[in-house]
Amino acid sequence: MLLEAPVYKELFGAVEIYEVQKVIKLDTETEDIHSFTVKNLPRGDIYKTLGEMAIVVPMKNEKLQLVDGVLKAIPHKCPIIIVSSSKREGPNLFKQEVDLVKHFYNLTHSKIIMIHQKDIGLAKAFKEVGYTDILDSSGNIRSGKGEGMLIGILLAKAIGAKYVGFVDADNYIPGAVNEYVKDYAAGFLMSESDYAMVRLSWRHKPKVGKRGLYFRKWGRVSEITNRYMNMLLGEGTNFETNIIVTGNAGEHAMTTKLAEILPFSTGYSIEPFELVYLFERFGRWENVEEYQDIYDQGIEVFQIETLNPHLHEEKGQEHVKDMILMSLATIYHSKLASERLRQRILDDLKMHGILGDDEEPKKPIVMRAIKDIDVEKWIKVLENNSESLLKFEL
Ligand code: GDP
Ligand code: CO
Repeated sequence: MLLEAPVYKELFGAVEIYEVQKVIKLDTETEDIHSFTVKNLPRGDIYKTLGEMAIVVPMKNEKLQLVDGVLKAIPHKCPIIIVSSSKREGPNLFKQEVDLVKHFYNLTHSKIIMIHQKDIGLAKAFKEVGYTDILDSSGNIRSGKGEGMLIGILLAKAIGAKYVGFVDADNYIPGAVNEYVKDYAAGFLMSESDYAMVRLSWRHKPKVGKRGLYFRKWGRVSEITNRYMNMLLGEGTNFETNIIVTGNAGEHAMTTKLAEILPFSTGYSIEPFELVYLFERFGRWENVEEYQDIYDQGIEVFQIETLNPHLHEEKGQEHVKDMILMSLATIYHSKLASERLRQRILDDLKMHGILGDDEEPKKPIVMRAIKDIDVEKWIKVLENNSESLLKFEL
């Protein structure tokens, strides 16, 4: 793969954020490219990295045709981890997903783990290792995409994956999914730190309009989140910036070492909160002893603009409002946000009718980092009590 070389970056303490890099050529072999402004990541290196990367697919009531395309598009070397929160009654969509996955496995012999988010055995496993952060007041696993992702990360750690990447289940273009995963690998190949993250951005997000497909510059929610995320970063460093273009990147990946030490926020606030947390915790040289290794190596955040457009299921206006509210809530409640920034967020949310006149965004629930969970014990309890766990070739 040829990518624009990572020439410009913004530093905030131990956090290094690279400017967005475009894909210039999707697939290259090993020949040298004589250019300082282009980075060559040969196919062989990319495939080697793919073998060390688990792909987590969170899903909830998505169209089976889309799920099918996504599974078929993930490179064969990557173990797939499906965490589903789909309906189990009236109708039982989860059963249909299980049938699909079994059929897919019979055809491909891919490495797959699948589990239902509301599995009683899963809740029990979390209880037994003392991690109640993911449970609601009745002791069940909370709903939410962030919660599903955290389960996926633990499973990735349990199977010894070096990297963990996320791919949504509602993608209409299988070829795009295939690219995303390779883009993650390219990011990790550029990284010099064990603590790295790759976040994807899209140039275009096609919409179906009266005159056919219209390739709109992507996208409203992300524009708003990015604007405020950049302001937060600017207030932290005292230098205004536009570097962040992936505040909401659902399609992203990180080294398992980084995933272990990150607290995760609930539902759709998980992706913006990852950045907010990195700024808060590693933007300053504070309590360096706690994470000496991270401060020594630095945390690298790569942003890659994909070649493929992003076409996924439209979930409606309410979903969009909810995403904006949850994303901005992470920034609003950050200890790095100035009073002025908070006021601007409030005004914006009110102007767009997302928040009432005397309301404030709710502080997102944050789940502790998973690093202290005894994963061997967790997986054992899970295997002994699960009602939905499926494991193939692992
Ligand atoms: P958007 O693409 O960011 O607008 O949001 P989506 O609604 O498409 O959600 C992203 C992915 O997360 C999709 O694959 C969803 O099916 C999945 N998802 C959404 N909510 C949940 C949940 O509560 N649990 C799990 N496991 N997955 C979820
Ligand atoms: Co989607």
